[in-house]
Amino acid sequence: MTDTEATEIRKGLAGVVADTTAISKVNPETNSLLYRGYPVQELAAKCTFEEVAYLLWHGELPTAGELDAFVAEERANRRLRPEVKDAIDVLPLETHPMDVVRTAVSVLGGLDETLEADPTWIDPALTLARAKALWAQLPAIVAYTQRRRREEDLVEPRDDLAYSANFLHMTFGDVPELPVVEAFDVSMILYAEHSFNASTFTARVIASTLADVWSAVVGAIGALKGPLHGGANEAVMHTFDEIGEAQRAAAWLDEALGRKRKIMGFGHRVYKHGDSRVPTMKASLDKLVAYYDRPDVLALYDALEGEMNARKGIRPNLDYPSGPAYALMGFETELFTPLFVAARVTGWTAHVLEQHAANSLIRPLSAYDGPEQRAVPDRAGGAL
Ligand code: CMC
Repeated sequence: MTDTEATEIRKGLAGVVADTTAISKVNPETNSLLYRGYPVQELAAKCTFEEVAYLLWHGELPTAGELDAFVAEERANRRLRPEVKDAIDVLPLETHPMDVVRTAVSVLGGLDETLEADPTWIDPALTLARAKALWAQLPAIVAYTQRRRREEDLVEPRDDLAYSANFLHMTFGDVPELPVVEAFDVSMILYAEHSFNASTFTARVIASTLADVWSAVVGAIGALKGPLHGGANEAVMHTFDEIGEAQRAAAWLDEALGRKRKIMGFGHRVYKHGDSRVPTMKASLDKLVAYYDRPDVLALYDALEGEMNARKGIRPNLDYPSGPAYALMGFETELFTPLFVAARVTGWTAHVLEQHAANSLIRPLSAYDGPEQRAVPDRAGGAL
């Protein structure tokens, strides 16, 4: 009997419960997502991204005093570190922004002077401080990446602005009107956390070796880049560009499905009846469409969704409304997944802390299906 016959193999770990978590709960039956017990839709309606970040790290929403201190810390760390800017400037302008962000985070890790004296014990207070500093730096990294691609100068942060308004200010050089800032903040909240998705699990695997939070986030960014995961929000926009207009959606889809292409922004490993986050992000997209007067975007969105539902019964995931929303705001398509990074860094690092707090090395087994044991033949041999 081979290993594969003797063992139940769950390809892609589908349906496998790998550990417990108190950070978020995804319930595909009720289409709900809770962060620390709170429905994400209610958080998006009533809280800022700063409050949600605090909630993910600390387990509770902040009091007014706690929020003031938290926000002050974030604002103090917003300015792009010159060493990080220098490292980004070494890269070609064509480097994909996800590779730029991954490199920048690695540089920040290399600059960390607080490394623990004892590498077998990771200090949770230091990990949290690193997570917050990284969270505060990421808008500057992402914004500078877009500006540099357009050969525009770095824009310094403004300490009088909240996280999302400042992020947009650093990207575009001014603060857009409230509907745009609100839609951006909602997207950050919705992208912040989603249990054991591929990038978060990657971060936990790395953390389980007692590696530091920088390494965990660099690995998580790599996992997020792929189009089956975070890279889908960028890919959705390429699809929209390919289709061009609503009237072409049906023919485009027939052709794409005929060639067995995966349609980006549709389907989900956990939700099979629709993604809990989509209605909230779609409502924000509707507001942006009205604000920018772009009914053509909505027409294409609705046409592709309808055709996909009719042919395959597969529903959109969060990347479907967020892709066109970011495009309307003025972000370059290649910047969409880095925006996901800026949000998800909160969830990733909350999971690193949780993993370290009750650690067990993550090391599954594999079932061998290669050749039976055999002898190495006598060889003429090369020189050593
Ligand atoms: N387009 C076309 N067919 C699809 C799609 C899709 N987007 N998603 C699933 N299917 C089909 C798939 O071909 C398969 O059909 P069949 O049984 O005939 O072979 C069936 O549905 C089951 O698909 P699966 O790939 O086994 O399902 P999964 O749970 O392994 O995959 C997924 C989930 C997200 C990888 C997949 O739906 C997909 O590739 N979607 C497109 C990429 C995407 O939008 N990713 C974002 C995911 S959610 C947010 C995030 O992480 O950023």
